[in-house]
Amino acid sequence: MKDIVIIGAGGFGREVAWLIEDINKVNKEWNIVGFVDDDEKIQGTEINGYNVVGNVEWLRKQELHVVNAIGDPIVKKKVMERIEYSKNTYPVLIHPSVICSDKVSFGEGSIICPGNIITVNIEIGKHVIINLDCTIGHDTVIGNYTTVLPSVNVSGFVELEECVSVGTGSAIIQGVKIGENTIIGAGSVVVKNLPVNCTAVGAPAKPIKFHE
Ligand SMILES: CC(C)(COP(=O)(O)OP(=O)(O)OC[C@H]1O[C@@H](n2cnc3c(N)ncnc32)[C@H](O)[C@@H]1OP(=O)(O)O)[C@@H](O)C(=O)NCCC(=O)NCCS
Repeated sequence: MKDIVIIGAGGFGREVAWLIEDINKVNKEWNIVGFVDDDEKIQGTEINGYNVVGNVEWLRKQELHVVNAIGDPIVKKKVMERIEYSKNTYPVLIHPSVICSDKVSFGEGSIICPGNIITVNIEIGKHVIINLDCTIGHDTVIGNYTTVLPSVNVSGFVELEECVSVGTGSAIIQGVKIGENTIIGAGSVVVKNLPVNCTAVGAPAKPIKFHE
């Protein structure tokens, strides 16, 4: 079995530990060494049976398999930049329940949670999270670090640029492009392209604020 650590000991980190346990039920592949977290208060504590074994600075000097379970794309990207020149490697983790064709490419470190359906001719970037129960349609491109939260429906020919966050229960119609760093609120219906660096909500989704 290969040693793996999970960055982030929060709720999603615990869900990723469960995802890995489910992969191991099909094929004994991973030994979960523990969680990595910058919260000094939880160092050495046990969470759902796994220890918090160090912080990101510690991880920089390791040679482990690593999965980043931080949901916020921008925070996730910053953490990956801190360990960019380490000897760690980043496997793709796909839950055994996922329905996916062989016409899908996954970038390193991506996490595909239970219940997803990912169809054909789809490109998924590095350190992407597709949370529970989404559908991703044909010819879609998902940029690095983007997070798709639970129960989102992405139609065909959609482009999500780098560091996009798509809120739970949203729907994105075919052919739409969502700009880098943009946040889509829960339950939104995206029917037109959205610019970079904004928060957009509603049906139809419209920007309500812009950020750096
Ligand atoms: C969109 C979102 C990011 C906004 O967060 P924020 O920047 O802190 O903005 P605020 O909470 O200050 O809300 C700003 C306005 O937008 C409204 N709003 C917030 N989220 C909304 C949503 N999803 N749909 C419609 N309106 C929304 C608020 O009511 C508020 O309106 P007001 O100015 O009339 O009072 C957040 O509400 C959201 O939907 N996040 C997604 C969460 C999610 O999917 N979680 C899943 C975890 S697994």
